[in-house]
Amino acid sequence: PDASGTALSVPKAELHMHIEGALEPELAFECARRNGITLPYADVDDLRRRYDFSNLQSFLDLYYTGMNVLCTAQDFTDLADSYLARVRQQGVRHAEIFFDPQAHTSRGVALETVLDGLEASLATSQERFGISTRLIACFLRDRGPDEAMATFEALLPHTGRITGVGLDSAEDGYPPEGFAPVFARARQAGLHLVAHAGEEGPPEYVWQALDVLGVDRIDHGIRAAEDPTLLRRIARDQVPLTVCPLSNVRLRCVDTLGRHCLPQLVDTGVLTTINSDDPAYFGGYVGENYRAVQREFGFDDTALREFASNSIRASFLGRDERERLL
Ligand code: ADE
Ligand code: ZN
Repeated sequence: PDASGTALSVPKAELHMHIEGALEPELAFECARRNGITLPYADVDDLRRRYDFSNLQSFLDLYYTGMNVLCTAQDFTDLADSYLARVRQQGVRHAEIFFDPQAHTSRGVALETVLDGLEASLATSQERFGISTRLIACFLRDRGPDEAMATFEALLPHTGRITGVGLDSAEDGYPPEGFAPVFARARQAGLHLVAHAGEEGPPEYVWQALDVLGVDRIDHGIRAAEDPTLLRRIARDQVPLTVCPLSNVRLRCVDTLGRHCLPQLVDTGVLTTINSDDPAYFGGYVGENYRAVQREFGFDDTALREFASNSIRASFLGRDERERLL
């Protein structure tokens, strides 16, 4: 069997991607032009040359600057369409898409504009691209628990439009436990819960995400590999990890792909999925992430299919919909 074909063709779900991280330089300049905004970069090539990150924060600085060009519902529609058009070639049949409400409302773009714009694309994703879609609203942890709660209140009239809430942005120094009240309220509202933990931050943050927030999945979670008790717990309870290998290399969370803990996770029986995180910035979409780990670790056809079936099992689709994709 042609394993490299499998990486792209096997039906899969993507469970960890930030829609703002799918903003390709060409669309960024197009949005800047139509909104009369001047980006602090000369052109597309100049912007791409700056995709050389030393850590998570150095990426986030560029990421939040780039998304300033997203102003109208049309911008968000075009952004989501651009993502879907790319991953339809890579076997993606379902996508659970993160967005960062505070990154937009804090600069005067209404939550309704963001949601309306994304939905105008996602409402017909199945018909146009063969991809079912859900939205997950993430709180920016570096803006603190109070602002997260205010953001949740603003989301309350729209909870029918999202499947869950998450926690992202700068991790170290912003432990999950402070967000327990807002996560409790999201749970009461019937939403699924996820959180970035153990990307740059210590294993303790993964424990907190599990035991204090009660999340359904851990985003990244790679530093759990440093704590054998934690890793056994994650494997025992089959808490899915949404791992993003190329992101981890680009943000220097790992020195090289060869030193990534992915094989250790698999060997320990962790329900591991492979995702792109911010595909426009990190050198590839989900298919390129599958290919990169296949090349690096020699995963065969069966192993790649396992990552793909894990992604469907770990999704927030209903049982019938998961069965249809498996
Ligand atoms: N927001 C977008 N990408 C992120 C990442 N890799 N970690 C935390 N927050 C993010
Ligand atoms: Zn992420």
